[in-house]
Amino acid sequence: MEWITLSNGVKMPVLGFGVYQIPADICTEVVCQALSAGYRLIDTAQIYRNEEAVGQALQKSSVPREELFLTGKIWIANASYEKAKASIDGTLRKLGTDYLDLMLIHQPFGDYYGSYRAMEEAYRAGKLRAIGVSNFYPDRLIDLWHFVEVKPMVNQAESHILYQQQKAHEIMEQYGVHHQAWAPFAHGRMNFFSIGALREIAHNHGKTAAQVAERFLLEAGRSVVAKTTHRERMAENLDVFDFSLTAQEKESLRSLDGTTSAFFSHTDPETVESLCKRGAEVWQN
Ligand SMILES: NC(=O)c1ccc[n+]([C@@H]2O[C@H](COP(=O)([O-])OP(=O)(O)OC[C@H]3O[C@@H](n4cnc5c(N)ncnc54)[C@H](OP(=O)(O)O)[C@@H]3O)[C@@H](O)[C@H]2O)c1
Repeated sequence: MEWITLSNGVKMPVLGFGVYQIPADICTEVVCQALSAGYRLIDTAQIYRNEEAVGQALQKSSVPREELFLTGKIWIANASYEKAKASIDGTLRKLGTDYLDLMLIHQPFGDYYGSYRAMEEAYRAGKLRAIGVSNFYPDRLIDLWHFVEVKPMVNQAESHILYQQQKAHEIMEQYGVHHQAWAPFAHGRMNFFSIGALREIAHNHGKTAAQVAERFLLEAGRSVVAKTTHRERMAENLDVFDFSLTAQEKESLRSLDGTTSAFFSHTDPETVESLCKRGAEVWQN
């Protein structure tokens, strides 16, 4: 595993294992397998509703806590100083740990300045080793960056060969905020694993489409959080450090970039409305 150094000096693995949509009843086993495969970064979120299951995997695993990198995310319904503060303690309790390596604000909605202040406080108290945001497009990121004391260290954003977010990436670099790519395989949508150029390049290197997709992101200065529930794919997705893409291959993959997210735009009014409503409703369940 390779590691990068965040702006505050904290080291983070460049490949992480995400548990989005992994149901709680299988999540413990899947995370145990991911740790056995060699993953050290586990990416969860309050809204994934599997924090306890991840915590159980950590208890079962023989990997020492200091070798792990745990990422959590504060959901919209926990936005505001008081709610976020309580939710940080809730996440720590569910994960069975007294600190997180990285906490992110999941979406730029609600009183996320209040949430950010709660994260800054927890950071100073040693409960969070690093703090950051997720899904903050350049306008929200620049705004937040200018009005907080502890600058965000990470912005986790959708990023894959079909939606490369190059402009956003350049702005993150300009502000010293590390770009962590979520959904490196576009969630398997858009016939991702059948893309001709990806398969051809993979064939050239004796690698798979998934490995080339990750390698492209790593060589473009991002780290990656990927998900699979298959043990053999966990090993496959970690095996990306023994080859490099040629300039021509990278150019060919860069040309696949589009403007359409495999999910949705966080600036689309209908999406914003739906997320804000859903954020409030989900937490009342
Ligand atoms: N911050 C945010 O708002 C946000 C949003 C979405 C995701 N994320 C994070 O990013 C992580 C990854 O994103 P994601 O889960 O949406 O999608 P993803 O990692 O891009 O793709 C996952 C899909 O690809 C398949 N897959 C994985 N490895 C494969 C391989 N080697 N060959 C063929 N198929 C493969 C998986 O199937 P199988 O499981 O069946 O193998 C699954 O269907 C999440 O788990 C989460 O931690 C964050």
